[in-house]
Amino acid sequence: MKVRIFESSQEATHEAAALFIEQIQRKPDCVLGLATGSTPIKLYKELILAYKEGTISFKRVKTFNLDEYVGLDRLHTQSYYRFMCEQLFDHVDIDKRNCHVPNGQAKNIEREVMQYEAAIEAAGGIDMQLLGIGGNGHIGFNEPGCNLDCGTHLESLTRQTIQDNARLFFNGNEAQVPRQALTMGVGTILRARRCVLLAFGKSKQVAVQGMIEGPITKNNPASVLQRHPDTVVLLDTLAAEKLKKKG
Ligand code: PGA
Repeated sequence: MKVRIFESSQEATHEAAALFIEQIQRKPDCVLGLATGSTPIKLYKELILAYKEGTISFKRVKTFNLDEYVGLDRLHTQSYYRFMCEQLFDHVDIDKRNCHVPNGQAKNIEREVMQYEAAIEAAGGIDMQLLGIGGNGHIGFNEPGCNLDCGTHLESLTRQTIQDNARLFFNGNEAQVPRQALTMGVGTILRARRCVLLAFGKSKQVAVQGMIEGPITKNNPASVLQRHPDTVVLLDTLAAEKLKKKG
């Protein structure tokens, strides 16, 4: 795990954008794993800018998102599919047939999660996976206590995640946050060839310290990234504050 600490979230985001731009330039038909939430929004803006300047094209890029709420129509204002369209897909030359987000409305969840894993494999696996981290250490929606080997599956959201998501989205209304989601598993994430994790701000301090300096434990699912051969963690100074070793 390579850890880099930046003065500001803008600088860390700029570095993440440089990694994704370089990945797309090096392999124009690469497979990207993408994330939602507040953290990657500015990164997507930088990628849109790079596309508009002619630095990169998404024409042959394939994407797989980490997760989706169960029960929301994909065009619901808070669905992760809609989030991705608004924050990235609608602003670049990507072919939407190449954009994959788990179907939270699938009638047969078992089949949906198996097909999602199969689609990732058929695409050749994920070249670069973008990750955020929850205040409780979750990656994707793999909540504390999850199985650290599993593939895409159905997960029940913890109270903290429901509160966090209501604060940032759903107009603050906790009752509207779905209680379950489909998520790539920790096993799926570990199979990505490279992971780039972004974490900013005070609310991530404890989770970040545990991920980097704690034991590998299902109580902090992100800690399993210590086992991944090529993970880059990009932090702002605030998120890094509780780290004992800062360089
Ligand atoms: P955030 O969420 O980017 O909105 O902080 C990250 C996550 O929960 O993985």
